[in-house]
Amino acid sequence: MTMTTNIILLGPPGAGKGTQARRLVEERGLVQLSTGDMLREARSSNSEMGKVVADVMDKGQLVTDEIVIGLIREKLETTEAPGFIFDGFPRTLAQADALGDLLTGMGQQIDVVIEMQVDDAALVDRISGRFTCGNCGEVYHDTTRPTEKPGVCDVCGSTDLKRRADDNAESLKTRLLEYYKKTSPLIGYYYAQGRLQSLNGLADIEEVAGRMGQIVDAAVSA
Ligand code: AP5
Repeated sequence: MTMTTNIILLGPPGAGKGTQARRLVEERGLVQLSTGDMLREARSSNSEMGKVVADVMDKGQLVTDEIVIGLIREKLETTEAPGFIFDGFPRTLAQADALGDLLTGMGQQIDVVIEMQVDDAALVDRISGRFTCGNCGEVYHDTTRPTEKPGVCDVCGSTDLKRRADDNAESLKTRLLEYYKKTSPLIGYYYAQGRLQSLNGLADIEEVAGRMGQIVDAAVSA
């Protein structure tokens, strides 16, 4: 096996996957692979695939396995990295099987799957207060993580702060249902493989980051 660190962040919409993935990138030099970000990029580039997925995403439904597995395959084949953080992927059992096969083909494996547990009421709060920097992707929240200077990104100074089209109550309901129906079976799937660790995603951002760091350290040294 090559010495790499591959981590899956698993959790419902708004659990804090993107927030923590960005910290792991900064602290450990890993590469974040967010299928949500890849699909949003495809949308904004107006590509054929972007047009196909836009409506599905706005409704809060899952994009087809074929499309997202294709996106991940391409990134894995073209990116040199000491390891990957999979954020929002896999989301179905078919995606999980495909990821396992892709990594095995590269002589790698998933080191740890971190399940971020957050209750539904908190998710509604988080999603409705979220905004992100359109330039560097930093994630903020109206009350729990506002920018230091109103309207200006702390990280890159951009004033292009945006809210997502799918961050509304109707779409969130569908996203949660999709999570419970199609993604939550992955908790048992990875538990059975001995790779699952769970943490309390309701704790504040620093506390979650600290616990996540301990889990990753333990997985890497195992
Ligand atoms: P995607 O972009 O992956 O969205 P998601 O899974 O719904 O997750 P979010 O990005 O909403 O939340 P997050 O967990 O990253 O939370 P964040 O850190 O931002 O997917 C979007 C769509 O793309 C899907 O609906 C689907 O259509 C499609 N798609 C993507 N991947 C797919 C796949 N594999 N298969 C099929 N379709 C796919 O935090 C949320 C807010 O909370 C922020 O404001 C943040 O500041 C705040 N916050 C974070 N942590 C804390 C904390 N500890 N305490 C207080 N506030 C916090």
